[in-house]
Amino acid sequence: MSSQTLREARKYEEATERMISSDERPEFHLSARVGWMNDPNGFSYYKGEYHLFYQYYPYAPYWGPMHWAHAVSRDFLHWDFLPAALAPDSPYDRDGCFSGSAVELPDGRHLLMYTGVLGISQEDGGHHDVQTQCIAVGDGMDYEKYSGNPVLTQADLPEGASIYDFRDPKMWRCADGTYRCVVGSRPADGSGQILLYSSPDGFQWKFEKVLIENQNRFGKMWECPDFFELDGKQVLLVSPQDMLPQGFEYHNGNGTLCVIGSYDEETDTFTEEHNQAIDYGIDFYASQTILTPDGRRVMIGWMQNWDTCNLHHPSRKWFGQMSLPRELSIRNGRLYQNPVRELEQMRCNKVEYRNISFCDTISLVGISGRMIDMEITLRPGDKEQIYKKFAVRFAQNEEYQTSFSFRPYESILKVDRKFSGSRRAIIHQRRSKVNSYGGEIKLRLILDRFSAEMFINDGEQVMTATLYTGMEAQEISFFADGEVTMDVVKYDLK
Ligand code: FRU
Repeated sequence: MSSQTLREARKYEEATERMISSDERPEFHLSARVGWMNDPNGFSYYKGEYHLFYQYYPYAPYWGPMHWAHAVSRDFLHWDFLPAALAPDSPYDRDGCFSGSAVELPDGRHLLMYTGVLGISQEDGGHHDVQTQCIAVGDGMDYEKYSGNPVLTQADLPEGASIYDFRDPKMWRCADGTYRCVVGSRPADGSGQILLYSSPDGFQWKFEKVLIENQNRFGKMWECPDFFELDGKQVLLVSPQDMLPQGFEYHNGNGTLCVIGSYDEETDTFTEEHNQAIDYGIDFYASQTILTPDGRRVMIGWMQNWDTCNLHHPSRKWFGQMSLPRELSIRNGRLYQNPVRELEQMRCNKVEYRNISFCDTISLVGISGRMIDMEITLRPGDKEQIYKKFAVRFAQNEEYQTSFSFRPYESILKVDRKFSGSRRAIIHQRRSKVNSYGGEIKLRLILDRFSAEMFINDGEQVMTATLYTGMEAQEISFFADGEVTMDVVKYDLK
């Protein structure tokens, strides 16, 4: 039975959504139905469709008491909204239904696990949110919260772990039919750790162990963990808060971290081997993955950073977009990401140039647009004297432009949205170290109205940024300081 709070949210979103025209949104990235979107939740395959829920406040384009919105897709690119799935309407989640995950039960029901938030007043007048893990069960449309909620509380925490930072359960079903989940937690040292829990049935949960400790190495609290096997390795994805920069690998503030290692199932021991950022751009956080029926590990993230949320379109009734779902693999011990292959079905109007040589600014007939998939292969025009700089500029007109520029001598790729029309004093540029061989580099740029995702060297790295430039800025141009030879293939995405 749905509550009044949920019924109101469903009524409101249905009525308000009609006031947003489809060209005010990204074409193939999921954006907030109305109001506010953050983390992807409950990414799962259920009854023949991909289900994606997300952190949601329908009533304003700003964060508020968290609901779960709901959308479905068959190809990760065309999404249909379903009515909101969860509202903060129970004694244990009155102040929010925070992030979580979903699995299908053997009896065909859809099981959601999320963080219930309950604000309590402190003696000193302060206010703290107590976080517990809760369950809801449904049919892919309507969900009922479990009468035994919360299923993980303070009593299930290891010694020293905070009751205020205990969130974002990611669960999965094991080969033997039991369940496991990882949850973000803050230990006594004030940083982060990931807790492992197990369950025979998805309802009764038990603490197993601390899977990995941050020990203040990568930011503080670790949010939104995901833990899975990939190409013979074990992978942990987390989103750390309060990062300090480390070279070009990690940047200040909310970041993303991928730890690759090995896993001993007998003892549940995760041994770290390698760490790296997930995304090297500006806007990517809180990633979550799904295992598709054909065996692909696909990751989606909130295409945003908490520190840049005031880059808001002034008159929009929605805020927040998801990244393009990305197929993950491990090559040479590193995480690789590529756009889901379904994207290729949206490609049309191919325009191709081979061996274009230039050493100034050029534009190419047929190459423009804000919903495109463009592959650029760069080589130095003169191997003895490598060019100094290359740039691709897009969402461009006389007034605006956003760019990726590459300096082969430093091997740095930079995204710059300073001239995208933003009027906020936030981060507009980010540099990333990339691999290039004598000035050769491969770039694949995906644009979808309000975002740019750059896949570097066949998915070795990704840099993502949002931009809210008006749609009249459609031009694309290329710049070279020194002689560059370029192949470019561009498709429109429809
Ligand atoms: C991460 C996060 C999660 C939390 C949710 C609240 O972006 O802070 O830890 O569950 O957002 O909306």
